[in-house]
Amino acid sequence: GEAKLKIDSNYILGKVEPRVFGTLIEQLGRGVYGGLYDPDSKFSDGDGFRKDVLKLVKELGVTTVRWPGGNFVSGYRWEDGVGPKDERPRRLDLAWHSTETNQFGLHEMESWLKKAGNLELMEALNLGTRGLESALDLLEYANIPNGTKLSEERIANGAKTPFNIRLWCLGNEMDGKWQLGHLDATEYAKKVSKVAAGMRQLDPSLELIGCGSSNHGMETFGKWEDTLLNYAYDSIDLVSCHAYYHADPGELDTFLGSAVDMDRFIGEVISSIDAGKARAKSDHIVNISFDEWNVWYQGSEPSKTPEGIDNWPVAPHLLEDVYSVTDAVVVGDFLITLLKHADRVKAASIAQLVNVIGPIMAPEDGEAYRQTTFYPFAETAKYVKSGLVLKTVAKSPIIMNKKYGETDMVNSVTVKCEDGSLAIIMVNRSIDKSINFEVELSGCEVNNEIVEAKTLHDDDPLAKNTENNPNRVVLKDNNSVLIDTKSNILSINLPNDSWSIINIK
Ligand code: AHR
Repeated sequence: GEAKLKIDSNYILGKVEPRVFGTLIEQLGRGVYGGLYDPDSKFSDGDGFRKDVLKLVKELGVTTVRWPGGNFVSGYRWEDGVGPKDERPRRLDLAWHSTETNQFGLHEMESWLKKAGNLELMEALNLGTRGLESALDLLEYANIPNGTKLSEERIANGAKTPFNIRLWCLGNEMDGKWQLGHLDATEYAKKVSKVAAGMRQLDPSLELIGCGSSNHGMETFGKWEDTLLNYAYDSIDLVSCHAYYHADPGELDTFLGSAVDMDRFIGEVISSIDAGKARAKSDHIVNISFDEWNVWYQGSEPSKTPEGIDNWPVAPHLLEDVYSVTDAVVVGDFLITLLKHADRVKAASIAQLVNVIGPIMAPEDGEAYRQTTFYPFAETAKYVKSGLVLKTVAKSPIIMNKKYGETDMVNSVTVKCEDGSLAIIMVNRSIDKSINFEVELSGCEVNNEIVEAKTLHDDDPLAKNTENNPNRVVLKDNNSVLIDTKSNILSINLPNDSWSIINIK
């Protein structure tokens, strides 16, 4: 079979929201402590922030930061993390069976976001052990300029200017039995409509995210969304989706089709949202915040939480997955898939950022380095962060996938970048076959000049970057790319199990 693509830069699907390049930073393991913040490290600056990590975060190109969780948030008291550091309490973190020292809180996060390049905060609220009152308190503390108890407290704690947080997650994965204070769909939907109404009494212009399903396979998936949207359609602006995938032993070929499931998940949530819109007889448009997505080997050793009534470690090594080149191809495919829904996916967060299932690793005594998954994210962000996704016509050979059925061998997205150039991002999902990909460019206003063509591939599908060999897997030039100027046809060889990007001027 052939793999072909036809591009016409007149046909636009939607604008890429920079927020699609967000991340989740959870107070979990060495994500914050030892990741972002480590006052004792030789790599840190005067605020205790790791400079080597900040440098890589900028290179990665992330935009919004969802924080402080994740599961952690459902037991979090935000006021523990503000005020003089030596007076902050140590608390049990029940989600990860750890001790939270609260040395890093809202003010530290705000300073870190500034240093990382003025990133935007997506604040997650505790709707597990808490509710409306603490949400309103945090909102007052963060966003009211001055003159009230909590706004004055913020000023006394060193922040004269309000934080002006626009994006708020109304809880985290409240459909999951593992979630502290989890709720059934009706309980959650009613809570959302009350909390949202209260928050909007303080500031009607906030953007609020309701929890959708924790993953596509949840037993309550579909009904959960329907119930939420029945009660609270007009109260929220976005519905969340979360999804993690991993390769079972010997199943790399199946795993390479994971983005097909993500795509179906997004399509089904859009249908549920729009059915809710019809029932609500509303003009309001609700979109998707895919605010946790990644490859995560959930059942593996690094994800086992500590145990024992007398064992609550501070910042233990947790969820420190080391990613292979195949994991990175799948991550690249997830980003392609999110971009292909640019008309409805308006925010997304790779979960997470540093050490904890992250594209960046920060060893205790060594310099931070890029995991394999860093590359497709950074390259995609570099070119398309604020471009226009084009409607294209594509043809690909079909692969029969054990889990997901018929899947396209080649998946791609094309973006008209801000500078007028084109970025084509592609994956070859075949575990063992390379393919020639032909792109018809006649409808494009470009000079057929290839600025860059890069591919992520390795003969060993399980090759990884490690502290001792941090550059084992890197992006390489793809020298097979050619444009026939007579026919305006570009061709490129996509190796088996690979991710690629081309930029054309
Ligand atoms: O990212 C790790 C965990 O995955 C988060 O805490 C939770 O929200 C999800 O289940």
